[in-house]
Amino acid sequence: MQYDVEAVRAQFPALAEGIAHFDGPGGTQVPDAVTDAVAGAMRSAVSNRHGDFTSSARADAIVDAARAAAADLVGADPRGVLFGQSMTANTYGLSRALAKTWRPGDRVVVSRLDHDGNVRPWVQAAESVGAEVVWADIEPDTCELPVEQYDDLLTDRTRLVAVTAASNAVGTRPDVRAIADRAHAVGALVHVDGVHATPHGPVDMVELGADFYACSAYKWYGPHLGLTAADPALLATLRPDKLLPSTDDVPDRFELGTPAFAQLAGVTAAVEWIAGHGKGATRRERVLHGAAQIETQEAWVFDRLLGGLAARDDVHLVGAPSRRTPTVAFTVDGRSPQEIAKRLGDRGIAVWAGNYYAVELMRRLGLEDRGGAVRAGVVCYTTDDEVDRLLEAL
Ligand SMILES: Cc1ncc(COP(=O)(O)O)c(C=O)c1O
Repeated sequence: MQYDVEAVRAQFPALAEGIAHFDGPGGTQVPDAVTDAVAGAMRSAVSNRHGDFTSSARADAIVDAARAAAADLVGADPRGVLFGQSMTANTYGLSRALAKTWRPGDRVVVSRLDHDGNVRPWVQAAESVGAEVVWADIEPDTCELPVEQYDDLLTDRTRLVAVTAASNAVGTRPDVRAIADRAHAVGALVHVDGVHATPHGPVDMVELGADFYACSAYKWYGPHLGLTAADPALLATLRPDKLLPSTDDVPDRFELGTPAFAQLAGVTAAVEWIAGHGKGATRRERVLHGAAQIETQEAWVFDRLLGGLAARDDVHLVGAPSRRTPTVAFTVDGRSPQEIAKRLGDRGIAVWAGNYYAVELMRRLGLEDRGGAVRAGVVCYTTDDEVDRLLEAL
């Protein structure tokens, strides 16, 4: 069942500008409910945390509410949800904290499917302590990430496996659970990049086998903030670099400086907004149902996009993953991806061209030196008409 996409769109003032936003994988637009929550926090008295006055208690309440909301979104313990400037910043911080527990000769496994945000922090952290980095490879025709290869990559010296829940370039949803089971069997921790997966369906980080699950609110209709969720007991074993007077509490010890209170109010509103699409007794149930509704809607629209692109002889789809998000990368005969993106941009159609930081994937596919590929993504507010506009303009 498709929902009333026009009713959804009416909640996003930015869409009135008329741009067809196929750039969702790079960031979504924001509904009124989120803008109102951010503005509301800024208009009310909010002070720094842990003071004995009302405006400070309000700041504490905003942080607690955002942890609870994020926990409901990904199936985490609110006491293990940490916020930071972005997924990249959070992952760098976490990688440095984990590397303090690694020794020369330990092993870290990264993948060529991943955005660099779930690659470079681990590669550089491993290098800093003399740990070895090994790479899980993709199957280039499909852009699948075969699970069996992990049997050869994992050893009892493996400390961490970093893998994406979905590729922001080609949409592949790898079998994270099967990879995590293998990692756990040798005692390794699993860091899952959920940035691209989270807006496109229900998330249960425990079911996925993620010890750490990272995502970014601006990909799911919220403000520009990243969060990482983990078992608080696991976080308690880590000693991130931090200022001397700042608290040692978990998860606060991972959060540098004063939190972005207004943005955090927006995180809660974004989760509530997703939950508003669903039914259930608890917010977690409504989030799961709401995310599934959005996933179904997106699949309808994406079918039209994928079918339209596949029908053209001059368009070449990158990969053919069996399980995917509504995101596709493609090249066009005789035109560079940048030329296509520019010409579509001139017609009010937003797509990205290049590698979108999935640089190892583009290198592996031999596309990096050819300008990468054009990427188009469907999100909750994308319409069939917009798909037709894109296909016609192409
Ligand atoms: C899959 C994936 N991982 C990580 C990131 C980085 O997220 P952030 O901008 O919050 O650092 C992105 C951003 O595009 C992404 O798509």
